[in-house]
Amino acid sequence: MRLEQNQESGKYYVGDSKKILKDSFFHNMRGKIQLILTSPPFPLNQKKNYGNMTGEEYLEWFASLAPIFAEMLTCRGSIVIEMGNGWEPNRPVQSLLPLKSLMSFVENNEAGLRLIQQFVCYNPSRLPSPAQWVTVKRIRTVDSFTNIWWMAKSDEPKADNSKVLRPYSNSMLKLLNKQNFNAGKRPSGHNISETGFLRDCGGSIAHNFFELESMDSKRKVRLPDPFNAFSLSNSTSNDFFTRTCKERRIKPHPARMHMALAAFFIQYLTDPGDWVLDPFAGSNTTGYASARLGRKWIAIDTREEYVEQSKIRFEDPVLKKPNGENL
Ligand SMILES: C[S@@+](CC[C@H](N)C(=O)[O-])C[C@H]1O[C@@H](n2cnc3c(N)ncnc32)[C@H](O)[C@@H]1O
Repeated sequence: MRLEQNQESGKYYVGDSKKILKDSFFHNMRGKIQLILTSPPFPLNQKKNYGNMTGEEYLEWFASLAPIFAEMLTCRGSIVIEMGNGWEPNRPVQSLLPLKSLMSFVENNEAGLRLIQQFVCYNPSRLPSPAQWVTVKRIRTVDSFTNIWWMAKSDEPKADNSKVLRPYSNSMLKLLNKQNFNAGKRPSGHNISETGFLRDCGGSIAHNFFELESMDSKRKVRLPDPFNAFSLSNSTSNDFFTRTCKERRIKPHPARMHMALAAFFIQYLTDPGDWVLDPFAGSNTTGYASARLGRKWIAIDTREEYVEQSKIRFEDPVLKKPNGENL
């Protein structure tokens, strides 16, 4: 284990996260992490260029992480894991490995975890994959979403959906403005009170489906606040990190987490000053979003070149402005 980056807001270690988190050096962090937010190496059946494990070996390794992660959490802390889909090698058949891995992780008795809620992130700008079946043979549709699994040691981990509100719809804004609407029973059986919808709460409650690009061009996508604060266009191809990597001829990490997604969970599940850990941090999207939101972070990755490029994120002039909730 080597400490590679030491920022005021956090630290980046190079090495194997399982070994590092079990190291006596990390004992004092046990029970202090409020959120583990990560996208682990994918359970692929074919090796990708950052050295993934395959099949049963992956399953066992992934399940063995559950008690180590759980031990790091505060009693009301959360684990949020983003996982894409996988495919069987050379077959137009979806792999069950991601689901089996999740099951063996959450059901590992030594960890005492439960699934709190599933989220889906729809992202149509992902490249058509698996290309052989989608674009060459045209027998499968484009794999266009990732799953996000939120787990915890308690049924009631710290969470506050009023911190991640969506902008109100135009009809709701009109209704708040007019201060009257049709109270009474709806065909659905819901009984709407006289005043139920007249209080302005600053926005509507977030959904567990993130539409990064509108599925219907006639309908306005209303994503929660962090998606607006970490503006969508700024978080993909044109942000400070990607632009600077390009200028310095550095190949950015091929599987970066969506910045606004990281910001959403950090804001929703932690408070300023809390610790956020990403054990498979890559370009350190989690650390950067944590720093911008006034949280402390710990990042770990085996690959030095990712740690090196992640330092670019902390050259972003935005971080020089006073941080905290008001971005
Ligand atoms: C999907 S990527 C994470 C990308 C990251 N969320 C980002 O936004 O850049 C998974 C990362 O896990 C790292 N990794 C794989 N095995 C590891 C291990 N045993 N310990 C620590 N990191 C590992 C890989 O080097 C890779 O960068």
